Formats: sequence, C-alpha cells, structure tokens
Amino acid sequence: EDFTPFRNEPFTDFTTAENKNAMQEALGVARSALGQSYDLYIGGRPERTAKKFHSVNPARPAEIVGTHFEAGPEEAQAAIDAAQLAFATWKHTTVSDRAGLLLKAASMIRERHLDFCAWLTLEVGKNFAEADADVGECIDFLEFYAREALKLDAATTPIQFPGERNLLRYVPLGVGAVIPPWNFPFAIMAGMTCAAIVTGNTVVLKPSPDAPTIAARFVELMIEAGLPDGVINLVQGGPDVGRAITENAAIRFIAFTGSKKVGLEIHANAAKTLPGQRFIRRTILELGGKDAIIVEADCDIDAAVEGVATSAFGFNGQKCSACSRVIVEDSIYDVFCDRLAARVSKFEVGDPAENVYLGPVINEVAKKRVLDYIEIGKTEGRLIAGGNAIDKEGGYYLEPTIFADIAPTSRIAQEEVFGPLLAVIRSKGFDDALAIANDTEYGLTGALYTNSREKLARARDEFHVGNLYFNRKCTGAMVGAHPFGGFNLSGTDSKAGGPDYLLLFTQAKSVAEKI
Ligand code: SER
Repeated sequence: EDFTPFRNEPFTDFTTAENKNAMQEALGVARSALGQSYDLYIGGRPERTAKKFHSVNPARPAEIVGTHFEAGPEEAQAAIDAAQLAFATWKHTTVSDRAGLLLKAASMIRERHLDFCAWLTLEVGKNFAEADADVGECIDFLEFYAREALKLDAATTPIQFPGERNLLRYVPLGVGAVIPPWNFPFAIMAGMTCAAIVTGNTVVLKPSPDAPTIAARFVELMIEAGLPDGVINLVQGGPDVGRAITENAAIRFIAFTGSKKVGLEIHANAAKTLPGQRFIRRTILELGGKDAIIVEADCDIDAAVEGVATSAFGFNGQKCSACSRVIVEDSIYDVFCDRLAARVSKFEVGDPAENVYLGPVINEVAKKRVLDYIEIGKTEGRLIAGGNAIDKEGGYYLEPTIFADIAPTSRIAQEEVFGPLLAVIRSKGFDDALAIANDTEYGLTGALYTNSREKLARARDEFHVGNLYFNRKCTGAMVGAHPFGGFNLSGTDSKAGGPDYLLLFTQAKSVAEKI
C-alpha cells in the first residue's frame, strides 16, 4: 500500500464564528449524553460490575460526565486472559492490516473531531484550543505509528553474511498493560494503546479514573473500526485494579504515563519475577517534570514573557512539559517579573465550555495540593501574581500564581506541583542559570530565550532534558517533529511520536539461513 507522507493534523481556528459555533454545537450534543453508562470491554464483551463510579466535570462537579464500573481482581484477570487468547491470532495478522485499523480509526476520529473535543472540555476542563490539540495529537499518533510499523516491518540486517540469507524481524512482546494519564486522556491514551497493538501486542487498558469517558468512547470507536475481540481490553478503576493488572505474571510490558510516585512503584514491582513468569517484564514510563525556562538578558523579553506565561499556565500547568521554574538573568530580573505578573494577571479563569483560557484543575485533591504549595511558596518567596482559589459553580478554580525570589533548592523549585504555580529564580549569568536548570531530579523539557548562538550551542550540549526548545515555549510537542520523553526521574525517555518508539513494544529476532 502507498501512504502519503505523515503530516501533523492542522489546528482548528476557533476565532472564526463557524468553528466556534460548531464546537458549541458539539458541546450541546455531548451535554445531552452526560451521565450515560459505559461498559468495560473484556474479550470484546461489554461487562459491568456492581461498583459504579462517576467522572465529573471539574468546572461543575455536580455534573456527572460518565458513569463507569469499577473493575476488581476478577475482571483484571479476565481481561489478561482475553488479551492472551487474542494474542495467539493477533500476532499473526499482517502489519499492513494492523496499520490499516489505525488509519481507519484516525479517519473516524477526524470526522468526529469536535465531538471528542467537547468530551475533553467536559471531562477534564480543556479550553477549545487545548482540546483540539489533544484530538489532533491523537490522530497524529495513529497516523504516525501506522507508518512507523510498516517501516519497522521492512527492516533488514545491516549486512548479509556471505553464504547466508539474513533477516531481522521485530516481533511483538505479548500482553501489555497500558495505563495512561488524565491530562492528555485522548492522545496519550490512544497513542500508547495503538503503538502496542500495531506492533502485534494485545493490551489491557486501564484509563485514569479522572478521564474514563474519553477512553471508553475511544474503545467503542476502535470496535466500530473493526478491532478484533480481546486486542484492547478496557478495564476501569483506580490504583487497586491498576496493581491487579500490572502485578500479574502474564503481563509482559507496562506502558505508563503519570506521576513519578506511581511510576517508580510500577518499575520496582515490575522488576520482581513472579512465579510462573518466563520473561523480564519491560516498563515504558513517562513521569513528571520540574521544567525550567532560562531567560537571558540578551533575548526578546516580550517573547520570553509570552512563552513563559503560556508554558507555565496553559491547561493550568497540568502538563508534564509545563514550565514550573523560570530562571532569569539578574540585569533584567525586575523588568521580567513585572511584565510576567502583568501578563499573567490578564488570563481569565472560568468555564472552559465557554472557551475561557484557564479552566479548573482536575479535582479537589489537585486544588488542595496547589493551595498547600501556595502556602509553602509564601514562606519561600514573594507572591507576585495570584495566590487564591476562585469560587465559581463549585468548580476547582485557582488563580494563576507566581512566586519570585525563589531559591533554587526550595521546595517549590524542586517538587512537581502539577498546577498553575510558577517559581521565578534569579541567576547571576548563564553558567549559574544552566547549573540551576539542571539541579533537579527530573529532566523532561526545558527552554532557553537568548539571541546568542554561543549560549544556544552550550545549552544544546549541557541543558540535560529530553525535550529542549530555543526561543519558544516548552509545551506542545508535535508528533514526528519533537519525539517526546524525559531524562532522570522524568522517565525512560521513550520518545513518543518518534522513530524509536515502536521498538519499545517489540523484540528483535534475527534469522540466518545457510544458502
Ligand atoms: N506532549 C505534551 C507537551 O509537549 C506533554 O505531554 O506539552
């Protein structure tokens, strides 16, 4: 088959009345389906349990978005068994059939683009552009991995040994657990799942209990697209069912994106060989960040202010890529702080369904965590913007908050907050700035604003992060252009959306035939 070269899905322009109205219409349609029940899918069969749970709209927590059924150890085992059964046939399907399924799903999502945007707005509080980027990235992952799988299938050994025919085949691993986060609950969820299945694995998908509806709607779309029974098994619930899946002797690999704490627990448990286990379990982990932007005196200050504000507060800083430390050179420090505080105080906070730039944070626990860090910040630095919760329809709203004069070793400069809180740190110069930026247990994204080629070259070598950006924001990695993943405790640097990602879901088999 002939595929057009991969290109990123274009963003939707919501400044046009036509697109804005279409999104509002999609929200209306989604609203009329709020609260609906969603089944688990085990071996292609819809299943329910006795234990219901709800996902709610973080902008109006009284509004139930989806009703779901919490799986227990029995459903976890049944899902793994179903995945094992399906693996026996799925692994023998052709790569082009599997890639075809991803492309079919991508085109169906493209047709329902705004419907998925609406569910993202209602379930996790994304404004129109953030929801659109999540859906676009989802389509990108499917389109990209379909093509990458075909490339991998055409791999050859670097040389042919004289007198032999040498083959290199990338074969699937087996049954995997896929545990995605709630912050990119469409793109990352579908991306991890589809990378696993396009390479011939079968999976048990356990979405975040904060975003179960998007995942359920995706699995329903995959079934409609022709997904065979048992290739993706959907199991809903929290950490208990997560453990029941990941700590099972049949689970060959675990793809997880989420917190450092949970990721390291998964990693530690995955290292234990369980009775009956006949492989070394693999983990693919994308965890947190404490991402820094360095602002040098020789840069375009207004561009830096804009880039920092967007990186720190886009989707309320609830991105592993979000800027949470800005390191500013002494000579422009005061000017920068003033302009940044002025810029950020212009951000509106309110209902994302009305396309307000900043919506709520994901839940009550998150709101409390950010408020606790705001109290810590008050003892560690000088509050220059925000600092309060906002009371609106019971939504989990917070003001975008900035603390200046933060010491590089203080808690809000070291601990991931995962919310709208930014620490400003003063640097004595570029060496100092690089040292501060690298003084973290994380290493996911980073950015540098400067007009100096020399500094850019040094940062390229010395700024220790998986995704480094120059004179632009540090969020919004594009599939294909910015393979995404971090160093240190930010994860295994899996580089989603890059040429190496699918390798993580395969093992290579070398076959030599004497001729
Ligand atoms: N890929 C996202 C970004 O770059 C984070 O997960 O912002």
